[in-house]
Amino acid sequence: MTRGLFISFEGIDGAGKSTHLALVAQLFREAGRAVVLSREPGGTPLAEKLRDLALHEPMDALTEALLMFAARREHLVQVIEPALARGDVVLCDRFTDATFAYQGGGRGFDWQVLGQLERMVQALPGGALRQPDLTVWFDLEPHIAAQRLATARVPDKFESQSADFFTAVRAGYARRMAEMPRRFARIDAAQPVQAVADDVVRLIQALLSGAVA
Ligand code: TYD
Repeated sequence: MTRGLFISFEGIDGAGKSTHLALVAQLFREAGRAVVLSREPGGTPLAEKLRDLALHEPMDALTEALLMFAARREHLVQVIEPALARGDVVLCDRFTDATFAYQGGGRGFDWQVLGQLERMVQALPGGALRQPDLTVWFDLEPHIAAQRLATARVPDKFESQSADFFTAVRAGYARRMAEMPRRFARIDAAQPVQAVADDVVRLIQALLSGAVA
């Protein structure tokens, strides 16, 4: 049976990652793979309720981190693990790196405590940790992301944060990548959208041909 594949997509708000998710889904489908598209926080009815709270209600930093991980646990148990067991490709718009980047980097919440929660929530039978096989990080200067967001929709709790917040979020992603370089691929999201798409296509083709992960 084909091995399941778990890919997460990350970046600060306005980096454009969601635009490229559909393209990646199409590439895998063309290669004959069953694809599950999902997002965090969210991906199950309960986790979507937790998303609504986390994105719109002001709250204590630990409460916020716990909600992210509570939603993640539901998502893992109900959606991600069953899909991987079937051999599907799971494409997830954000995963745990977002918690380290936003709650850890952006909010300044304790990195070690996030690590403890990660180990609790993502533990697999036998003790290994569930992590994405590949994390595609759309990296972009916060001021460019802010310009892109300014013309978009009404901002949620995170999107309305300052440039300093997003500088710290970006540093959080960089720290995660430095800690786990093998599963990260950084894409320069400041390029024109077609050049970003070309990079994404090259990355997924390398993955399909067995050259990555
Ligand atoms: P986002 O993924 O940007 O979705 P949309 O494109 O629909 O706005 O929104 C999710 C927001 O939640 C984003 O601002 C980052 C934040 N977030 C965290 O703070 N911590 C997390 O663990 C996750 C998964 C997301």
